[in-house]
Amino acid sequence: MTTIAGTVRYREPTRADLPDIQVIDGAAFRDRYPFFVLRQLLDAHSSRCVVAVEPGGDGEDKVVGYALTIMGEGERAWLISLAVSPDRRGAGYGRGLLRHSIQVSQDKGDVDEVWLTVDPQNLSAYNLFKDFGFVLREHDERYFGDDEPRDVLVYKLHRLAAPFGENGYPGS
Ligand SMILES: CC(C)(COP(=O)(O)OP(=O)(O)OC[C@H]1O[C@@H](n2cnc3c(N)ncnc32)[C@H](O)[C@@H]1OP(=O)(O)O)[C@@H](O)C(=O)NCCC(=O)NCCS
Repeated sequence: MTTIAGTVRYREPTRADLPDIQVIDGAAFRDRYPFFVLRQLLDAHSSRCVVAVEPGGDGEDKVVGYALTIMGEGERAWLISLAVSPDRRGAGYGRGLLRHSIQVSQDKGDVDEVWLTVDPQNLSAYNLFKDFGFVLREHDERYFGDDEPRDVLVYKLHRLAAPFGENGYPGS
């Protein structure tokens, strides 16, 4: 899955993208992921993850945003992190990353819902998720410990008809 709109493209991340992802993560969150965690997330779940890339000066892709999704229990995927470079925010990249992440889960057809947590004070993220169609499932005042409340939001995927195999019959 790779789409192009203007100069931005959305695609599955590679190992070469990890340093950029870590910089964006560090700029966005107080508790940044250690490199080894990002590396293992990629090893385990890269096909569910998406990066937004622009052409860099050296001809290489420059990652300007990322969305990390992992497979969870009970036919649900978890969008565990989403961030855009501070200098690229407000340009639609967050929405693009979210749309592509949801599309991946939709295309895989192996989950019914996408879950995530959001700080109720984080209005930019909250607005984005609400606009998209996520709904509140629960509020946990201590989700990540003392003074770390989170809302758990859920997006219901539209179940497609049973996928057709190579010879045109379901499940073949
Ligand atoms: C949340 C985040 C990913 C949004 O990315 P973005 O590229 O700036 O968002 P977009 O330009 O695609 O905006 C999409 C929608 O998000 C909401 N939004 C974005 N910035 C906003 C702001 N400053 N204030 C209020 N709503 C905002 C709006 O609903 C917007 O839709 P609109 O343009 O039609 O009003 C980005 O602000 C970010 O990286 N924040 C830090 C990390 C973070 O909080 N991640 C979410 C953790 S749950």
